[in-house]
Order: sequence, then structure tokens, then C-alpha cells
Amino acid sequence: MIRFEQLPELSLYVHLPWCVRKCPYCDFNSHELKSPLPEQAYIDALIQDLQSSLPQIWGRPVVSVFIGGGTPSLFSAQSMQRLLSEIRSLVPLIPDAEITMEANPGTFDAERFAGFRDAGVNRLSLGVQSFMDSQLHALGRVHDAEQARRAIAQAKPLFDRLNIDLMFGLPGQSLEALEAELDILSGFEPSHVSLYQLTLEPNTLFAVRPPSGLPDDDLLADMQSLVIERLAQRGLVRYEISGFAAPGQECRHNLNYWSFGDYLGIGAGAHGKLSFADRIVRTVRPRHPDGFMRQPAEGGTETPVRPEDLPFEFMLNALRLIQGVPSGRWAQTTGIQVGSHPFLLDRIGLAQSRGLMSVRPDRFQASARGIELLNDLQSLFLP
Ligand SMILES: C[S@@+](CC[C@H](N)C(=O)[O-])C[C@H]1O[C@@H](n2cnc3c(N)ncnc32)[C@H](O)[C@@H]1O
Ligand code: SF4
Repeated sequence: MIRFEQLPELSLYVHLPWCVRKCPYCDFNSHELKSPLPEQAYIDALIQDLQSSLPQIWGRPVVSVFIGGGTPSLFSAQSMQRLLSEIRSLVPLIPDAEITMEANPGTFDAERFAGFRDAGVNRLSLGVQSFMDSQLHALGRVHDAEQARRAIAQAKPLFDRLNIDLMFGLPGQSLEALEAELDILSGFEPSHVSLYQLTLEPNTLFAVRPPSGLPDDDLLADMQSLVIERLAQRGLVRYEISGFAAPGQECRHNLNYWSFGDYLGIGAGAHGKLSFADRIVRTVRPRHPDGFMRQPAEGGTETPVRPEDLPFEFMLNALRLIQGVPSGRWAQTTGIQVGSHPFLLDRIGLAQSRGLMSVRPDRFQASARGIELLNDLQSLFLP
């Protein structure tokens, strides 16, 4: 039975669902902008969504905000200012709350980005993907390598905390080509990098027509090792499957997801997870921007998480963290004592006996082999 004495930390996710163009590999809820951006109407809808969600999070401090997409940087600084002012007036943000915004280098404009910072954004996440024009073209990106470099150079003095998203395992990419990408990346001395292996997601153009020359599994494994080694040489420690950071620069918002904290998700298609005294629910807002704007507070879904699903949901997140989580985190975020969930204990024992989890009483942590075989490890916790 779920019973909380104290609820976990709460974050806020805000989804802005438009992009200049849909990238052929992307399965995020992002829609190509075919008419003028309905900025005012969408911000109004977000505020309405937040207002009607307040009874679910009454009085709880919010530790971080993540404005994701889509391409949030399509919005004006004034809209961001209005959104963040409303958020501040409606929910108690902690004084040093991390406020991240995602941005596409193809939408970069130094003055507008200074406006985002003045509105309160204190962490920027730039979707660079590659520093090679040929790759950016193959990925259907709206920007070239020069725009990506310029965006980083201009964003650095504006934001103390800057993340760069890159992908590897790209069509025709060799180990040497990846090495060249990492060299260029290092030249910018980033304090946070997310390096994702390109995946072919169902319902994307790439899934229907995969690009030719995708690296095989052996090359991918070599690429993964190269990424870890090169970034470590630059002081960027792998703290999560795809996340690398200088000490203290880890993304607090994502750390809250991975340590199974709570988050309110507002905006088209946004997902949320919220705990109450005796239950945990998952929420999903209407996916289409028009539908969401028509009825921001209705038409979404709210599903209770079944206690038998909690081991998988918890481990799906916690085991992504290279250091794992303190074992006490389970009870703090599920409201169930470890000893009261025989299935959880059984599966941890199984994972440990297969060498996939460290044998430590104080932490739930994947072993080095468990990180390599993360999907297999996580699926041991399926009910
Ligand atoms: C929602 S996007 C936000 C950034 C922004 N929209 C942009 O692309 O510039 C988050 C990141 O997910 C990564 N991503 C998206 N689809 C992916 C895929 N199929 N495989 C690997 N990484 C992917 C990209 O690195 C992207 O920057
Ligand atoms: S710009 Fe980002 S969110 Fe938009 S389609 Fe491309 S990867 Fe997806």
C-alpha cells in the first residue's frame, strides 16, 4: 500500500510544441509551424493549465522548471517573460530554482536570447546534433554548422549553465568523424553535454526509410567508449547514460526525473507524475496543440500507478544514473517500504546474481555491465 509522510521534490515541465520543420528522426510531440505562431493564445492556455492544476500541488515548492519542445526558442522574450512571471506568481519556486529552456541554433538571435535570460532562464540547452554540414543536412536540421558554432559562442556569455545536445551513430559516421566532432565540441569547453545515440523511433520518417550507412553494433560500442573517454579527459563525467557534466553542473531537473521525483507537466502532450498521500498518478495532456488550446484544463488523462508497476518505473529512471540512487530513495518516492515489496527484493537479487547490479545495501546502482545491458536490466523489473 502506498503511504507518504512526505512527498518527493516537485519540478515543473512546460511543453512548447512547434518547430520550424519536423526532423525525420524525432518522435517528440513537435509540429511543423505552418501558420503564424499562436504565441499569446498558447501562453494563455499554459497559464490556464497551470491554474487548474494548482489544487494538485497546493503549497509544494517547485525545485526546477524545464521549458522543452519542440523548439521553445521560437517564442519571443516577452512571451517567456509573461510565462515565467505567471509561474512565479502561481507556484512557490525555490530561490535558486534551475530554469532550463531548449533552443535550436537555427532560431538563435543574441538579443532575444538575452531577453530569455532576463526573463529568468538560467540554463540553456542547445540542440546542436553535429558540427558537420553533411550530417546536419542528412538529419534534416534547419541550421548549418556555422550557425551551431555561432549559437554556442553567443550563448556562453549569456548563460552560466549551458548544455549542448549532440548525436552519434549518424549515417556514414566513422570513428574518426566522431573524434572530429568531439574535438570541436571540446573547443567550446562545455560544462554539460548530452550525447545521444541516434535511434530509429517508430512513427518517424527514419523508421519508414532508414538512412543508409548506419554504424553496426561493434562500431557503436567503440563510439560509446570514445565519447566517454574523450569527455572524461575534458572533465565531463558521465553521470547518466547520455549525460556528461563538470562537477556541480548536472541538470537538476533531469536528476529529479531520474531519482523518481514528481513533476507537473503542462502544455500540449505534456506528461506528469504526481504523488499524493496514498497514491501516485501519471498525467498526459491532449497531444495536439489546437485541442490543447481549446481545452487546456480538460481532455487529458490521469492514471493511477499500480504498486506492482512501481519497481519497473522506478528502476527505468534510477538505473540510468551511473551512481544509482540511495536505497532509501525507493521508500521516499514510492511510499512503500523496500521490505514490503517482495517482488522488488526478488528482482534486485536476480539482477545482482547476474552481475547487472552492484551488491550494495546502501544504493540501487547498475554495475558497469548493467549499464551496457541497461534495457535487459530494466526489464527484469517488469511485473
Ligand atoms: C526535444 S529535442 C530538443 C532540442 C531542439 N528541439 C532541437 O532539436 O534543436 C531533445 C534532443 O533529443 C535528441 N533526439 C531527438 N530524437 C532523437 C533520436 N531519434 N535519437 C537520438 N536522439 C534524439 C536530440 O539530440 C535533441 O536535441
Ligand atoms: S527541432 Fe528538435 S523537437 Fe523539433 S523536430 Fe527537430 S529534434 Fe524534434
